[in-house]
Amino acid sequence: MKVIRSIFEMQEAAFAVKRAGRRVALVPTMGALHEGHVALIHKAREQGAAVVVSVYVNPTQFGPKEDFTKYPRDLEVDCQICMREQVDAVFAPSDEEMYPGGLWLAEGSGSIQTAVPTAIRGLQYSTMVEEDVLSKSLEGDRRPGHFRGVCTVVAKLFHVVQPDVAVFGEKDYQQLKVIQRMIRDLCFPIQILPVPTIREKDGLAMSSRNKYLTPGDRAQATVLWKALNIARDMFSQGERNAHRIETIMMRTVELAPAARLDYVQIADPETLEPRSEAKPGDVVLIAARVGKTRLIDNIRL
Ligand code: PAJ
Repeated sequence: MKVIRSIFEMQEAAFAVKRAGRRVALVPTMGALHEGHVALIHKAREQGAAVVVSVYVNPTQFGPKEDFTKYPRDLEVDCQICMREQVDAVFAPSDEEMYPGGLWLAEGSGSIQTAVPTAIRGLQYSTMVEEDVLSKSLEGDRRPGHFRGVCTVVAKLFHVVQPDVAVFGEKDYQQLKVIQRMIRDLCFPIQILPVPTIREKDGLAMSSRNKYLTPGDRAQATVLWKALNIARDMFSQGERNAHRIETIMMRTVELAPAARLDYVQIADPETLEPRSEAKPGDVVLIAARVGKTRLIDNIRL
């Protein structure tokens, strides 16, 4: 397994694979790999393609008060996992490689993290990719600039790794939809493969951020899954009033003292428009803080 740090080398390797008649499958990650990421790697491997896992904690998708600096990083362990899963290459670029010259912090772009050294005017990285509709609600509303950072880094990764297919988790449902929209709008010749959410035994969706949970918070973190299941149960018993379902979900979250609800929303699975009347196939999205850790989850009805 190759560990590639430079964009040039990654592009050369990808072009070589393609010249040899093989397809490339990309699994973009921020590292701290867990079973959820491994499920994505398995999906990529099923394609018979050369599998590239990118490991990059992307500064532009974190807000100034978010967890960029404390986000868990352990490239060595991540590489061991990738090796075990027969990944062909890990692409792990530096900030300077991805955002050469530092980031240009234009007025009004206050949410862009400044971990990348502040730019020298005129030489800085200054191009961003922005999806303008799906990105605005839910996570996009609570985390201004988040999807701008995600779209930018994913578009860059697509240009660097040249994948034929790219694998994304349904765990980050809105992200999946935003990326699918970006692919369509910007004509990337890439097929997106979604993978269902991998969960702990008690239902908690696996996430690199679960590492932040104290034992007490961890026990209460299942409240998101409980609330989602209540939505599913109410729907299967015939309830269609989205507001009523959302209200019961809110009350469920309130029962966990360490949890603070951010949002619950029943939405159209493609447009993410809020529903007043729930329909089969709708997505139920939830975000809550448990202790100091912000968690998101979702299910389909
Ligand atoms: P990260 O949070 O590391 O997630 C990488 C991929 O793994 C995403 O597609 C995410 O949806 C998927 N994933 C995470 N937990 C999962 C779970 N429990 N089950 C299934 N899939 C899961 O998402 C990002 O990184 C970044 O935003 C990125 C796309 C890499 C851009 O920086």
